[in-house]
Amino acid sequence: MDQIVSRRDFLAAAGAGVGLAAAGASLGQVGQVRQEPRRIEVAGPLARPAVIASGNGREAARLAYEMLLAGADPLEAAVSGVALVEDDPEDSSVGLGGLPNEDGVVELDASVMHGPTHRAAGVASLRNIRNPARVALEVARRTDHVLIVGEGALRFAKRVGFQEENLLTDKSREAWLRWRSTLSREDDWLQEDEWDLPPDARTGRRAALEVPYTTGTVHCSALTAAGDLAGTTSTSGLSWKLPGRVGDSPIIGAGLYTDNAVGSAGATGRGEAVLQVCGARTAVMRMEMGDSPEDACLYVLQMIADRTRFKRLQDDRGRPNFNVTMYAIRKDGAFGSAAMLPGATYAVCDAQGARVAPSRALFE
Ligand code: GLY
Repeated sequence: MDQIVSRRDFLAAAGAGVGLAAAGASLGQVGQVRQEPRRIEVAGPLARPAVIASGNGREAARLAYEMLLAGADPLEAAVSGVALVEDDPEDSSVGLGGLPNEDGVVELDASVMHGPTHRAAGVASLRNIRNPARVALEVARRTDHVLIVGEGALRFAKRVGFQEENLLTDKSREAWLRWRSTLSREDDWLQEDEWDLPPDARTGRRAALEVPYTTGTVHCSALTAAGDLAGTTSTSGLSWKLPGRVGDSPIIGAGLYTDNAVGSAGATGRGEAVLQVCGARTAVMRMEMGDSPEDACLYVLQMIADRTRFKRLQDDRGRPNFNVTMYAIRKDGAFGSAAMLPGATYAVCDAQGARVAPSRALFE
């Protein structure tokens, strides 16, 4: 019979420093004790506080950093920073103005994770509320749940005081109409070149614009001067998705993971790929094993590349034809980002100020 180790035994053994190697354990054995998470060795001066964010999150990083300097909790700081992006109607990948699903309805996903308490929560397929990261924070603060979706998430948000509004802006509605019109010559929607409209009546710009398409997202991880970590990831998800589709952003371990002993990581880009490798958890685990933040990000991307087997997801050289960008910050303040393909950026704010830098590309 498999040996079951009680929580008390586990903690006692972990406290005594009994590790996998010492016990001669293999991953295939059940009930073996394991080590405490490896603590990050801190060498040299600490680069704390510090905030890392996706490339669209420079102002998010700046605000979060200012809040950390003023003594804010790292999760409150990260969520407040991300709210700037959620509130921005010009960012078509997040919150207000995010591109809708195939029915023209904006559905938002977000998660939060708080290192000091290891609390985590997400909301998915949330309609009509522009700040899903803040709703996820309230789920973490007020409930014993980790994930609330759809109608239940909306009801929860309204109960705790969030206001409903239409998240479709003129620009995102116009983009959806343009996408809808490109679908088929067989349905009742005319193709864009058949519209009986003056070009400038469409978006105020000429209609030759490409139909926008996004898996964009905003991520932000914050590290306090004392070494406490938190993170949040928020998105409108894949544009034109099937109603109810959920990506990586609200899933703890995929679009976000924070371990107060190690670091915090997040992801943007094709959520299906990140979900299939537990991207953020894997990045934090790699930092725990000794990788630099950038190497931890590259490890996740290589995992995704190695497991991308369908031709429809590959370029003519067999490499992924989609982008994923990973972001990671370690407990000592070291940070890094890497993307599958060139051109991605990340934002950071520390004592040197807020800036945007290129993410390292796995495939140049
Ligand atoms: N990474 C955002 C999404 O795929 O939904």
